[in-house]
Amino acid sequence: MPRLAGRSRHRPSVRCSAEALSCQAWGSKGRTGTGPTQQKARERGSTATFLVADALALEGLGRRFDVAIDCGLFHTFSDAARSAFAENLHRILRPGGRYVLLCFSEHQPGDMGPRRVRQAEIRSTFARGWSVDSIVADRFADRWSEDGAAAWLAQLRRA
Ligand SMILES: C[S@@+](CC[C@H](N)C(=O)[O-])C[C@H]1O[C@@H](n2cnc3c(N)ncnc32)[C@H](O)[C@@H]1O
Repeated sequence: MPRLAGRSRHRPSVRCSAEALSCQAWGSKGRTGTGPTQQKARERGSTATFLVADALALEGLGRRFDVAIDCGLFHTFSDAARSAFAENLHRILRPGGRYVLLCFSEHQPGDMGPRRVRQAEIRSTFARGWSVDSIVADRFADRWSEDGAAAWLAQLRRA
């Protein structure tokens, strides 16, 4: 049975350390999030701070992080937005900070769902200012199938 990595429709797309950047309503940039993810975290006793932000304008947060976790955001971006996103992540991660990415891969057949990402595209987007710790095949849980979609689980490190 394959491991399903991305699960909930309500899971934030980028999380940074104890702070979570929820993409669910990123139009309301800068407000404190109050969605289902935050409610679930509170029920579990988490004291994490949740902020809503545009992942292409993270500098406005005025903070730096050790880890950024991206579940299903990168594969929604155009080529130009991918570069802007990589630059934003680079600015808000501390040197040596990790970026963990889960996205649909080119091995997912058909055209249902988000844009497919080739492993080479991950490497080229993060070619400068980053090193690649690992990129492995994984599964991304979706709403259409039992075993999810073909995905890349990548771990990158900011220089
Ligand atoms: C494929 S969904 C993934 C949702 C959830 N993380 C999951 O795994 O089920 C991609 C999400 O990215 C959000 N998004 C797109 N552009 C964004 C941006 N610039 N900043 C923050 N979120 C964004 C969309 O609103 C959407 O909710």
